[in-house]
Amino acid sequence: MKEWAQRARKWHRWLAIPMLVLVPISAVLRLSGNGKIMKDIPAWEAVQSILLLFLALTGAYLYTFRLVNRRKRMRRSAVATDRSSQDSV
Ligand code: HEM
Repeated sequence: MKEWAQRARKWHRWLAIPMLVLVPISAVLRLSGNGKIMKDIPAWEAVQSILLLFLALTGAYLYTFRLVNRRKRMRRSAVATDRSSQDSV
């Protein structure tokens, strides 16, 4: 599971770069009234949607991995404190 989380984080990090380049360019083009340029490139919107989809999928995986991991850690430390309190009796 840790290997998959590392892989997901790597993909998430690398996919963030083109996304962080494309989103401000799109915003500037749209706000400056040059949105037609994007319409002339049919793949423009599709690339952004696919990038966002993969970012959302890898991000959701990282989010759940963190939650599951935290819960496991809490359970383990609860068992450890329980054992140590039994030892002291
Ligand atoms: C769309 C839904 C998204 C979700 C649910 C999501 C979720 C997450 C989560 C949970 C982490 C923390 C990972 C960890 O440290 O355990 C993370 C890290 C990060 N996210 Fe996202 N994210 C999303 C979209 C994006 C987008 C759109 C970008 C940038 C364009 C982005 C860029 C990053 C970066 C750079 C990190 C740090 C990665 C690292 O550990 O080096 N994310 N994200």
